[in-house]
Amino acid sequence: MKLVPMRLLLEDAVLKNKAVAAINISNMETILALLETAAIENASVIIQVAPIQMEVQQITYEEIVALVNVFGKRYDVRAALHLDHATKVEDCYKAIRAGFTSVMYDGSLKSYEENKNNTKKVVDFAKEFSVTVEAELGKVGGAEGHSNENQDSYMTDPLLVKDFVRYTSVDCLAVAIGNAHGFYKSQPRLDFERLKNIKNMACIPLVLHGGTGISEDDIDLAIETGINKINFFTEVDRSFVEGFLKAYQGNHQVYMMAAQESGRQAMMKEIALKIALCERRSRR
Ligand code: 13P
Repeated sequence: MKLVPMRLLLEDAVLKNKAVAAINISNMETILALLETAAIENASVIIQVAPIQMEVQQITYEEIVALVNVFGKRYDVRAALHLDHATKVEDCYKAIRAGFTSVMYDGSLKSYEENKNNTKKVVDFAKEFSVTVEAELGKVGGAEGHSNENQDSYMTDPLLVKDFVRYTSVDCLAVAIGNAHGFYKSQPRLDFERLKNIKNMACIPLVLHGGTGISEDDIDLAIETGINKINFFTEVDRSFVEGFLKAYQGNHQVYMMAAQESGRQAMMKEIALKIALCERRSRR
């Protein structure tokens, strides 16, 4: 595995009119599941983790970098290691110093000016390390504590995009167009007209969060309209849990190593589907 700045993967995706799948990892097995699937599918991937997830896992930035580099040696694949949803500038600095090749500064719950200024601080710092920066404009629903997926005031305002991108020089931008984190309560309706306007103003790769539950057709149309990175967590994570439980339900004496292997295999199947969607390969 070669860890590269995320912008290189995004540039490739732009050229090939596709997206890169970004998957949140939770432990060693999920890192292995992701890298092995990427190698089998011959695709680049983004390994990502959020500070809040690291807290639960009780793992440091340095430990994640070390794990990814050690296990990455097994696979011939290009990947980026990305910090997802860092709401503190300082967390971005820590990840960059530790060897992450990309960070997301998430100032979506701050005022527009604060989001803009903090994003610029992170971009200026990241530049010295050749690290990629993602920002968010608007508020993606779900985990951030609001659930009204289509409320207009949460959506990315296309009129702010040009100023934000120009001022911050950010590499890519996460958009709120009716997408939300976690399982949707009803089928999401993405605002593609808004996405088109954002793309016209941004002229940089756009990121779609909340990949879980978005239909295959909408993912395809989103890529066609300018999305080059798609985040998947909940559904992929659930597939591991279900694989693990299936092994246990089939045999209550099962050893953990066998149950976790069952989870890893189930997760690999789900990741392969997500990669195929992003790569726009024929659906299996
Ligand atoms: P889901 O959990 O909805 O797939 O979203 C993942 C995500 O956007 C991580 O930032």
